[in-house]
Amino acid sequence: MNPVLEADPAPADAHAVGYVFDNDSDNSIAQFRNLSAAYDPFTTERLAATGLGDGWSCLEIGAGNGSVAAWLADRVAPTGRVLATDTEPRRVAAHPGLRVERHDIVHDPLAEAGFDLAHARLVLQHLPERQAVLRRLRTALRPGGWLQIDEFDVSYGPVLTAPDERSAELYRTFLAAKGRVLSNGGARIVWGRECAAEMRAAGFTALDPQPRVVLWQAGHPGLELLVSHTHSLRERLLAEGLTDDHLRQVREVMRHPEFQAVSPILYSVQGRRPA
Ligand SMILES: C[S@@+](CC[C@H](N)C(=O)[O-])C[C@H]1O[C@@H](n2cnc3c(N)ncnc32)[C@H](O)[C@@H]1O
Repeated sequence: MNPVLEADPAPADAHAVGYVFDNDSDNSIAQFRNLSAAYDPFTTERLAATGLGDGWSCLEIGAGNGSVAAWLADRVAPTGRVLATDTEPRRVAAHPGLRVERHDIVHDPLAEAGFDLAHARLVLQHLPERQAVLRRLRTALRPGGWLQIDEFDVSYGPVLTAPDERSAELYRTFLAAKGRVLSNGGARIVWGRECAAEMRAAGFTALDPQPRVVLWQAGHPGLELLVSHTHSLRERLLAEGLTDDHLRQVREVMRHPEFQAVSPILYSVQGRRPA
């Protein structure tokens, strides 16, 4: 049985629902830096394939540190424009051609037919209202406009080599506990694999889901992202039965030169609002 998948059903305690990370904490700086280093190359390769260029109007949702939004702003310059939104936008770095707004994609007003392209990475899977958000995004795009959603399916991610079996088991236990923490907050941690079907149900066409996995070794920003989670989610992980000693040990495992694992699957799903 897969302990991560077992953790996935909808949260039992509705009061626990809510985005579990805190952009105001110092840990968020490392979290966003590692997200950018690990995933921007794939995200921007996919965005570039839409043909976006000078004059496009783009929306970056849940922008984090704004690295993707800045890349978009450079691509659509000099006459295009990019709006970067986040409920907690203080980490979005200023960049020419970029407008930053505090905005909740679930509840706040969104202009209709205003964008040529909208993108969100690792945002919607945290939101129980993700299907309604997809419908809002379809309306926010001009006819023929593009939506790209990049999301994890964390049910896959085996350990390939570890210093010993106990280390491998500790890593798996940590991933399972983290999966429960996210699920308790309302996240759907396998949503990456469901995203294309849900975009289709929300009225998008020309669906193009692309999965990607990579090898993780010590120092990979994907593993360092998990290290940052041992700090930022500490209290919630302790509530799931881990101890500070477990967290210290799993950090050592993930930084051990003999540790190698496969990343979770990141699905990058593109679709278009019908013309
Ligand atoms: C896991 S981070 C991903 C950041 C960035 N997209 C990346 O991949 O590097 C999720 C981001 O979504 C933001 N967020 C969470 N709920 C949101 C909402 N309802 N509307 C807009 N942004 C939200 C968070 O504040 C955070 O910056």
